[in-house]
Amino acid sequence: MTKKIAVYPGSFDPITFGHLDIINRALKIFDEVIIAVARNERKSPLFSVDERVELIKSVIKDSDRARVDTFDGLLVDYARSCRAQAIVRGLRAISDFEYELQMAQINRGISREVETVFLMTSVFYSFLSSSIVKEVYSLQGPIDGLVPPLVKKALDDKFKK
Ligand code: PNS
Repeated sequence: MTKKIAVYPGSFDPITFGHLDIINRALKIFDEVIIAVARNERKSPLFSVDERVELIKSVIKDSDRARVDTFDGLLVDYARSCRAQAIVRGLRAISDFEYELQMAQINRGISREVETVFLMTSVFYSFLSSSIVKEVYSLQGPIDGLVPPLVKKALDDKFKK
């Protein structure tokens, strides 16, 4: 039987428990999940691509069906090069919907070989994003419970606490 492969793309700046929730749930549906860190994002990231990849590798180390990679250029081209049948995205709230719908439709316009599959974020993480983590952290708020301890340490190291 054909192996079911999904690409889970994003900035992951840094990875949060919300991302991990989506990865773990995607692993119940797909045989392999490739967590793909975008190299050509227009946002100015806090962590370099290599730092983000290393953080993700450290937190998913127990899974033999999830791997981390980076990609440049069009997501659908990357997904096709991985022989992935699907792109997985997490949906947190209605506010995510418009952008995600647009992205899914553009991607489907480029290639009908790759479907976008949305997983609704668990209620517990519905407010959570990498940006929120960085903001709370920068204001000295608590982020334990939002990111794995390794990510908290990486933030501490970045800001030399
Ligand atoms: O975590 P993010 O920042 O919401 O991820 C956005 C990402 C990386 C998935 C998106 O920007 C993307 O797919 N970039 C690759 C370029 C591309 O294929 N663009 C066309 C679809 S919008």
